Amino acid sequence: MAARTVPKLDIQPLTPHLGARIRGVRLTDGVDDGVFAAIYDAFLRHQVLLFEPQDLPPAAQVAFARRFGEVQVHVMAQYHADGHPELYRLSNLDEQGRPSGKHPDRGTLAWHTDGSWSHITGQATIIYGEVVPSRGGETHFADMYGAYERLDPAWRQRLETMRAVHNLDFSRTRRHGEDPMTEAQKRERPPVDHPIVRTHPQTGRRCIYLGDHAETIVGMPYDDGRALVEQLNAMIIHPDLTYEHRWTAGELLLWDNRCVLHKATAFDEAREGRVVRRCTVLGEVPH
Ligand SMILES: [Fe+2]
Repeated sequence: MAARTVPKLDIQPLTPHLGARIRGVRLTDGVDDGVFAAIYDAFLRHQVLLFEPQDLPPAAQVAFARRFGEVQVHVMAQYHADGHPELYRLSNLDEQGRPSGKHPDRGTLAWHTDGSWSHITGQATIIYGEVVPSRGGETHFADMYGAYERLDPAWRQRLETMRAVHNLDFSRTRRHGEDPMTEAQKRERPPVDHPIVRTHPQTGRRCIYLGDHAETIVGMPYDDGRALVEQLNAMIIHPDLTYEHRWTAGELLLWDNRCVLHKATAFDEAREGRVVRRCTVLGEVPH
């Protein structure tokens, strides 16, 4: 039997370290197995993929996400979008389409990785930009393979077996305390712990797994663990290992939560609209 040939995609790196733009792929009608294999290969290699502006209805976004695996239904049900519980819609527009002045989720403004507060964490996140502001509202990415590679040997050794506690209630309350989780949501999402240095299940490369949902360190006094998490979260962001994406409406961004952190930047919530819909594909238990 002939080996399946993987079609060659038009892929242009966005920075020397991470991110690539893919041209010529229309996701609305679905992608065949060969194109999907090429996209997945690029996803593992470049960590962040950008698809050029296109019309992508919610159902087609969910269908594309399902190619990667099981799609998360988020515990924060107030964000479910357009009749699709798999989609998490972030919008500052009111029912008349006017900017409300309220940021829908300030937790997104700090470096984090999606679903690290869960036992099975996020694999891919896929965001589609419906409405984008003229300034701000960018999405930034930081390479966590590079963050690990830049640690000096003493830090590598220190972190080797260390585990961090990730807690959605902690990060939500800290960043968006006026709209906290309900008791039922908290019960559904108790704190979990994950290794700080993880091995990517497909590439086999080691990377740092932390971010804003990390609260403290297993086996350390709480305050010492908190301080160390803060120190590490600052230490692992290197400006030359980031990609800063300024949105054009209709673009789609796809990234690997296992080896990048991301955050959104602020925008003028009272004057401009920003509407994005996101879905997160579940991955595995980090090791
Ligand atoms: Fe996120």
